[in-house]
Amino acid sequence: MTVPGTAPVDEDAFRAAVGRLPAGVAVVTVVRRGVAHATTVNSVASVSLDPPLLLFSVHVDSRLRDVLDEVDGWAVSVLADDQADVADWLASPGRPAVGQLDRVPHTSAPVSGAPWVAGAAAWFDCRTAAVHPAGDHDVVVGDVLAVAQGAPAVGGLVHLRGRVRGVR
Ligand SMILES: Cc1cc2nc3c(=O)[nH]c(=O)nc-3n(C[C@H](O)[C@H](O)[C@H](O)COP(=O)(O)O)c2cc1C
Repeated sequence: MTVPGTAPVDEDAFRAAVGRLPAGVAVVTVVRRGVAHATTVNSVASVSLDPPLLLFSVHVDSRLRDVLDEVDGWAVSVLADDQADVADWLASPGRPAVGQLDRVPHTSAPVSGAPWVAGAAAWFDCRTAAVHPAGDHDVVVGDVLAVAQGAPAVGGLVHLRGRVRGVR
């Protein structure tokens, strides 16, 4: 146990402890110059109902962060319980910059045009409202411009203790 105020918190200890917090898994997508970029995230949270706002955090060195400097429209697909392979693929560091969604069926969100992953549990179409620096991540807050839900029986994916698991 770490006693507050006694020593800097160890990064591995922090990661392990926060890994006990079940977190929903989603994909953030954005299109820049005709190229779709997609990244797995577990940091999506609802912020406000009126107006509708949500947030996610993005690593400052990620490609997604770069793209968000140029494009303010983006989309979120809340992954379904059977989409762990999609989550793995869109988190893999070596995937190419172009064609990331070639093997992932998708449609286009109505306002941003960013991809919505087919078969997901829910979808949001957003525009950046604010970006807050936060350590090695930036917190991106978005106005929600459109929403949709998947089939009622579709479950979700949860990231817990370093593993992604489906829940219904
Ligand atoms: C379950 C899971 C959750 C993740 N959540 C986030 C997140 O919230 N923010 C983030 O920046 N990266 C997150 N990542 C890491 C990115 O998916 C990964 O670094 C990705 O390759 C970054 O791609 P990019 O540099 O092309 O944007 C997560 C990875 C996994 C497996």
